[in-house]
Amino acid sequence: MKIIGTGSALPEKSVTNDMLAGFLDTSDSWITTRTGIHERRLLSTETLRELAMKAGRAALESSGVRPEDIDYLICSNVANSYVSPSLGSIILGPLGCCCPTFDLNGACAGLVYALDMADAFLKTNRARKILIVAAEQPSRFCDWHDRATSVLFGDGAAALVVTEGEGFIDFRLTGDTHTDVMYYKRSLEPTPYDRVEEKTTPLVMEGREVFRLAVEASIRDVDALLGRNGLTGADIDMFLLHQANMRIIECIRQHLEQPKEKFPTNIQHYGNTSSASIGILMDELSRAGRLKNGATLLLSAFGGGFVTGAALMKWSEIQYK
Ligand code: COA
Repeated sequence: MKIIGTGSALPEKSVTNDMLAGFLDTSDSWITTRTGIHERRLLSTETLRELAMKAGRAALESSGVRPEDIDYLICSNVANSYVSPSLGSIILGPLGCCCPTFDLNGACAGLVYALDMADAFLKTNRARKILIVAAEQPSRFCDWHDRATSVLFGDGAAALVVTEGEGFIDFRLTGDTHTDVMYYKRSLEPTPYDRVEEKTTPLVMEGREVFRLAVEASIRDVDALLGRNGLTGADIDMFLLHQANMRIIECIRQHLEQPKEKFPTNIQHYGNTSSASIGILMDELSRAGRLKNGATLLLSAFGGGFVTGAALMKWSEIQYK
């Protein structure tokens, strides 16, 4: 499998740390030193559907593939206002695609999960051209009175078009049950038979424990992929890591003893955009001409579950109009 098109879309509204300090007991210096985040984009007048469509259209356009030639749409999303139909179904028709679609919830590792699944579809001839759209609005599942979680996230979408090719070399996905360290619960409809009273609980997160799990898991995945492919950190041109916290990225970088230039970031401007984060980063780097033909990339993401996904790949340059 190789990537032949990329796209991303971000909300217009930028919210700085100082703006948050206007209604939360927080400060720019606390957020910046603990996370590296200066501002984030939040949906206000646009919708998640519009962001997903914009990213999807940009990816299709850069790939040169017509929407009607896409034969699978995989959508990565943690939550949106519809439980059913899927976000994939909602954007499929308007994008001009006519193919099977489903949503995948791999939390912040969702894009790597989607890539792994697309790779399997291509290898088994289930599809030849696949559109992956990761669209997330974590701002809508945070408690905006909780300074420990709401300051961390931003909204955004990314999309990739993939087809057969020599790009992806190896994947490593893992899962482990740690449901209590990070969760968002939505209430279900009551029934006469199930008396368990449910209520929606906005994002609950044990920050320190998630930090520890994230660093440990990402290092484990990266080391495993490097080791089993006979590589070291020095063989990787760029590490595209999930943008959750600058300090998490820095811990992984220090473990690998590689220079900062190999760890591009955009968390400063967007915060944690969940499964869209690596895709947005990839699209921006690719459009800026920073991903060279044949460059070896290592992607690594982690998220609620606890789930992780990492991928080793060679980049093929994309020509944008
Ligand atoms: N502004 C000011 N103070 C804040 C704050 C905020 N936004 N959020 C928390 N604090 C306070 C806490 O209440 C605590 O105060 P106390 O010492 O009086 O109790 C203090 O800051 C330290 O909190 P702590 O949780 O120990 O900070 P930390 O160094 O662990 O940083 C996170 C907190 C959330 C930034 C960090 O743990 C983290 O990034 N974890 C991973 C989160 C993540 O990546 N989630 C998504 C995974 S996909």
